[in-house]
Amino acid sequence: MHVVETDVLIVGSGPAGACAALALSTYGVPHIVVTRYSRLTRTPRAHITNQRTMEILRDLGVEDEVLAQATPQNLMGNTTFCTSMAGEELGRIRSWGNDPLVQAAHDLASPTRMCDMPQHLMEPVLIDAALARGSNVRFSTVYKSFEQDEDGVTVTVEDRLRGDEYQIRAKYLIGADGGRSQIAEDAGLPMGGQMGVAGSINIVFDADLSKYTAHRPSTLYWVLAPGATVGGIGAGLVRCVKPWNEWLIVWGYDVSAGAPDLTEEYALSVVRQLVGDDDIPVTIKSSSAWTVNEMYAETYANGRVLCAGDAVHRHPPSNGLGSNTSIQDAYNLAWKLKLVLDGTATPKLLDSYDAERAPVGKQIVTRANKSIGETAPIFDALDGLSPQTPEQLWANIDARKDATEAAAKQRAALREAIAFKVYEFNAHGVDLNQRYSAESSTAVVPDGTPDPGFERDRELYHQPSSRPGAKLPHAWITSGTRTVSTLDTVGKGRFTLLTGIGGEAWVRAAQAQSLDIATVVIGPGQEYDDPYGDWARLREVSEAGALLVRPDGYVAFRHADAAGNAEQLLTDALRRILGHG
Ligand code: FDA
Repeated sequence: MHVVETDVLIVGSGPAGACAALALSTYGVPHIVVTRYSRLTRTPRAHITNQRTMEILRDLGVEDEVLAQATPQNLMGNTTFCTSMAGEELGRIRSWGNDPLVQAAHDLASPTRMCDMPQHLMEPVLIDAALARGSNVRFSTVYKSFEQDEDGVTVTVEDRLRGDEYQIRAKYLIGADGGRSQIAEDAGLPMGGQMGVAGSINIVFDADLSKYTAHRPSTLYWVLAPGATVGGIGAGLVRCVKPWNEWLIVWGYDVSAGAPDLTEEYALSVVRQLVGDDDIPVTIKSSSAWTVNEMYAETYANGRVLCAGDAVHRHPPSNGLGSNTSIQDAYNLAWKLKLVLDGTATPKLLDSYDAERAPVGKQIVTRANKSIGETAPIFDALDGLSPQTPEQLWANIDARKDATEAAAKQRAALREAIAFKVYEFNAHGVDLNQRYSAESSTAVVPDGTPDPGFERDRELYHQPSSRPGAKLPHAWITSGTRTVSTLDTVGKGRFTLLTGIGGEAWVRAAQAQSLDIATVVIGPGQEYDDPYGDWARLREVSEAGALLVRPDGYVAFRHADAAGNAEQLLTDALRRILGHG
């Protein structure tokens, strides 16, 4: 059988596979992507794109392209609860950073803005850029099986155009083959949780709904209607794909009864119920059934086979974590593969991928499923959970307008239940507080300081930190007349050492390493200055101290002050990180 050779084989061109391809092509690592279909995804699927993902896309040079196509943050934020788009409104929550206080937190946390970038627009941006940088992408090519030995992985694939099979011999295999991952199964990755906890239907349609959105622009409109708590994701959802003409409805079904027959007539009836205005012309584009899952892999790798994305964490769209976490997995993995493949690091570095990302995967699966349950109090406040006859639900909704004590209580309960959805729609900490532990990851060097924990709710509030295992804090600094983020000084596939006046020994120590380390000195008269004093407030080390930042923007090592033995300290840190220890 014909055998093709490469360094890395990526199976899948979804957010995980596409980001892996983009990062590896940016770093100059030879690789091949194989993907089942003749095209990228056609349906909008994942869409909320958080600040951490935007930081990654900024480093990989595609932030502007994404922003040019995405729905901007200011049009995302009036998450509305209603009986239908045309029906009665029950309340709103300012979401996705559009609450003024949360917006300030977003501005302080990152140089980027979150946006709404549907997956069918995101994948082409990632794959086009990867192709332009040398990625080799084979469509209509299906993964069949793999065998691994000490030196590599031999993967059998089927070429669907030619109708035959061939083999690809790679040093590493990335299984980015989605929620039904054959690779995770073949690799025997142990899974926790369960699949198919509820049934859901996506219906994509064209309709001009601007008359129901102009006064409350939003990406999400939640519909509390009879039947809305059966299966699904907590309530009916009308989601904007392209303002304000293209939409996606998510509607549940009883998973024990199986998915309904997805005829055009059925899809139209659901659209009519959730839109609530039969005069608006509707064109159904597609319908598909899927299940809500609550499953995560306990480990992400088996030898030379590493899985990423939905292959290792499967959960509902609540909190918009699906493609974000998949992109973040791939970005965590790509630089490690590069350094192992070019001989800078030993394969031990790859153990840190699993150690760092598996806890994140478990956490987001739990969060997303919890968010579904947190919609129930809204129905509770309307006595709407059972029995759900339309008449009773509407009567309960009407009852909240009465001048009675009971109605006042109901109004308060409804306000409170909607406000509690902040954990789904404004969970800035879930997006940005991922920490990698030096106890489990060797790519993080403990600095002897105790874990300070989180001062406020870690799911809601981002807490910057320069402690090893945290993402480098963002601060606006200057270089001549340019204003840049501290995050702009790191990345690009390289380690970076940040120090200030008095940190010359750290700069020399970085330059003395065989590894290429960028150096950044911040202070008056240096290449960078800190005119606002923001960096001084955030860095948590003295001016002459040092932070060593990994190519993925995470702090790997820090030292509080100048050190006479800076070179030795840095060399020791790198030995641990690169697996030479
Ligand atoms: P993803 O599933 O995107 O990609 C897998 C890739 O592997 C595909 O390119 C596929 O063709 C390929 N592949 C699979 N098996 C293969 C094989 N044997 N050989 C070759 N290639 C193979 N999320 C959200 O936040 N909001 C939403 O509304 C939705 N809606 C939604 C609808 C539907 C129908 C699905 C299936 C999923 C969602 N999601 C979602 C989830 C979101 O799409 C998901 O989290 C990300 O796409 C995960 O990205 P991955 O790259 O890991 O997998």
